[in-house]
Amino acid sequence: MRRPPFLAGAVHLVLASIPVPPADQQPSSAPPFAEPRTIVVPTPAAEVVIYAHAPPGLVAELEADPGLLAFSHPDVARSYLSRIAANPQGTVTAAYPRGRRLLLGYVGVLTPDPELRWGMAKVPGLLELASIELSRSWRGLGLSNHLLELTFNDPWFEDKVVISNKFVWHWDLEATNLSKWKYRVVLRRLLHRVGFKEMLTDEPNIRWDPANIFMVRVGPRAPGTLLRRFDELLYLGP
Ligand SMILES: CC(C)(COP(=O)(O)OP(=O)(O)OC[C@H]1O[C@@H](n2cnc3c(N)ncnc32)[C@H](O)[C@@H]1OP(=O)(O)O)[C@@H](O)C(=O)NCCC(=O)NCCS
Repeated sequence: MRRPPFLAGAVHLVLASIPVPPADQQPSSAPPFAEPRTIVVPTPAAEVVIYAHAPPGLVAELEADPGLLAFSHPDVARSYLSRIAANPQGTVTAAYPRGRRLLLGYVGVLTPDPELRWGMAKVPGLLELASIELSRSWRGLGLSNHLLELTFNDPWFEDKVVISNKFVWHWDLEATNLSKWKYRVVLRRLLHRVGFKEMLTDEPNIRWDPANIFMVRVGPRAPGTLLRRFDELLYLGP
């Protein structure tokens, strides 16, 4: 996957951007282990199976559709996703036509990129929606909405904070013919629907392009310690 242009800064500025519950808040009752779930979405081309918490074996068996372009080669996408699926702190939602071993879309959530401030801090319960992609041949069918809904309508996320860095340099502007501003509106609306809200941060990669979006989904049972540590990361200053 293409990299952001540079890495995180330092120091600290307080931002009261998220509500912080009292320190004595009880730990959540969200399930510690992810439960696989599936739905079937009828489309004109095929019935599409969407599989949340897809097991690594399933992900490894699916041949990546050539219209998946976020990675240098579709097979790179497949091995990247298999590794996320095998990680207990990660989860993959995979979409494939019923009866065929063809990966046509995916959502990947895992611990944040260790090269950026969110990952360097190693905050337990802080995850990142790292990728969402539909093959160019399977877009416009409502599948990304279904992928996101099945992924996040899940008690596993109740005690977690999930960030999403949406960088312009990852967007498929060429295929959609949208300006980056219009693309931004589409992505913002997609994520908003599953509980993400845009937040301000001085993280340099986000600030690199004003169209970049930083969105955050705070689980209703996210513990106070997690919220405080996350809040401290939003503004680190120069
Ligand atoms: C962005 C992306 C995931 C959308 O997937 P999709 O399955 O085609 O989207 P859907 O059909 O579920 O549509 C979702 C919403 O986006 C809108 N949308 C999708 N493509 C659009 C386009 N080219 N122009 C305008 N609106 C568009 C739809 O109208 C729909 O809005 P609604 O729910 O309010 O009706 C897909 O285009 C993609 O994989 N792009 C490349 C990778 C990428 O940019 N990932 C995200 C950033 S990392």
